[in-house]
Amino acid sequence: MAAKDFGAIETDYAFFMSHATEAKSDVQEYARQLARFADNRSVVHLLDFGCGTGEFSRQLLETLAWPTASLYLTLFEPVDHQQETAAERLSRFSDHAIASLGEASYDQRPTFDIILSNHVLYYAEDLGQTVAQLLERLHPEGKMLLAIAGSENALIKLWKVGFGLLDQPIPFYIAQDVETILAVHNVCVDNSPSHYQLRFPDSEENRWKILRFLFGDYLRQIPREKLLEEFDPYVRQDHIEINTFSEHFVVQRNSET
Ligand SMILES: C[S@@+](CC[C@H](N)C(=O)[O-])C[C@H]1O[C@@H](n2cnc3c(N)ncnc32)[C@H](O)[C@@H]1O
Repeated sequence: MAAKDFGAIETDYAFFMSHATEAKSDVQEYARQLARFADNRSVVHLLDFGCGTGEFSRQLLETLAWPTASLYLTLFEPVDHQQETAAERLSRFSDHAIASLGEASYDQRPTFDIILSNHVLYYAEDLGQTVAQLLERLHPEGKMLLAIAGSENALIKLWKVGFGLLDQPIPFYIAQDVETILAVHNVCVDNSPSHYQLRFPDSEENRWKILRFLFGDYLRQIPREKLLEEFDPYVRQDHIEINTFSEHFVVQRNSET
């Protein structure tokens, strides 16, 4: 599938993050799933796959408040300077050096107790291969936590309209693809919706920020007016207000794997 450079749309993604309750809902959902996870473990190895600037994991780790002595963090993020920012931002949650998936020491840690991939799998090059590789790295008693929006999400519907205007299918993966791929693995999957709101002052520039975040480089090819109009049904006085939801998958290996 297509690559998306989050370095080029950093401020637009930050705009989305600061005007949506998505991260708050995702944190609540993961915190519920991980409530007792650290209780009987002296160490927890966590991989944040596609960590961005680490702002999401900062909120999650603050909520979990796990002992810094027991938490080991490994990060993977294709935008180098964002991974550096994430490592700095998250260093206070662990007494140990923060590892990177690309470095040699990574092989000394063949499995992770928690693999988190929060709104990343849309952009996998080959979703089947990525999911298989992540599952290989999941400890037999570990949990893989994936958040990704599906076809009923309002922003995925915007993708459908935008890429439809280019006469092409959405070049990214969605929750239904993750579901299909997980079904071929010997894993136990728990799936639940996570509801959130995107609300921002209505202006052409703000609508455009969300569209830049969603479409990246493709936006230059799509007729501007047609896409901007897609926000009209969501006008509430002087704001745009979108209430929608994403899917959360909690994946555990079946005991015989
Ligand atoms: C929507 S952001 C989510 C960032 C962070 N997980 C969060 O929840 O805020 C998607 C992230 O996935 C990263 N990404 C894009 N393609 C990727 C790939 N093929 N593998 C791993 N991460 C990727 C992007 O650089 C970006 O940081």
